[in-house]
Amino acid sequence: MAGQIPVNEKRRPLIAPSLLSADPLAIGRSVSALQNTYDWLHLDIMDGHFVPNLSYGPSLVSACRNGFPEAFLDVHLMTEPPENFVELFAATGADVLTVHVEATPHLNRVLQRIRDLGCRPGVSLNPATPVEWLKPILHMVDLVLVMSVNPGFGGQAFIPETLEKAKDLYRWRVARKLDFLIEMDGGLGPSNAGDVFRSGCDVIVAGNAIFGSEDPVAAIESIRNICREEEQHEQR
Ligand code: DX5
Ligand code: ZN
Repeated sequence: MAGQIPVNEKRRPLIAPSLLSADPLAIGRSVSALQNTYDWLHLDIMDGHFVPNLSYGPSLVSACRNGFPEAFLDVHLMTEPPENFVELFAATGADVLTVHVEATPHLNRVLQRIRDLGCRPGVSLNPATPVEWLKPILHMVDLVLVMSVNPGFGGQAFIPETLEKAKDLYRWRVARKLDFLIEMDGGLGPSNAGDVFRSGCDVIVAGNAIFGSEDPVAAIESIRNICREEEQHEQR
């Protein structure tokens, strides 16, 4: 697979609900209830080692692939080392496999392996990790996932300092004529979506703000509208 992840410009920013915050007994129904208002589905894979929590394995990603064949499946691997898991998850029909820069000394190799397996490679970094660490591999990835909380749990408070990383990535992408998308994950919702979008993010992950809301469709629309207003404000 080559070239940028296709994005319908009218839908930017892409909204990726994180299934971690969905009712675990009714994940499929929770996704159906979103009525296709989402752009991507974000699946958090936690190993109890890289992060202090466990979530789910490849069977849920496969079930999403079968249940929502048109959905773009954004798989966030919080596993160490990621190379032990990429075959397993590539076989599920995931679209993006994102691995953490902190989780392997062989980042270049695992990103290449993901592409060889027919998935799009993404890279993520924790709030305390310098964004400069990504510079040597930026040309290899289709997605950079900036963590705006310490990974492991949904519903945590947003760490605003991480916005600077998105701004740096945006500048480097222009300067080096690269085409990876920039995604932010953790503590996002209507209160900070405008800042996140203005910092250069293309994809906004939200768990609690969507599935913890009484009206998840309205929550998605509200995040999208806030970003749109931000865009119009800039154009004025
Ligand atoms: C945290 C996960 C996030 C999480 C986001 O480790 O990577 O995707 O589900 O949840 P909220 O939006 O509730 O912070
Ligand atoms: Zn995530």
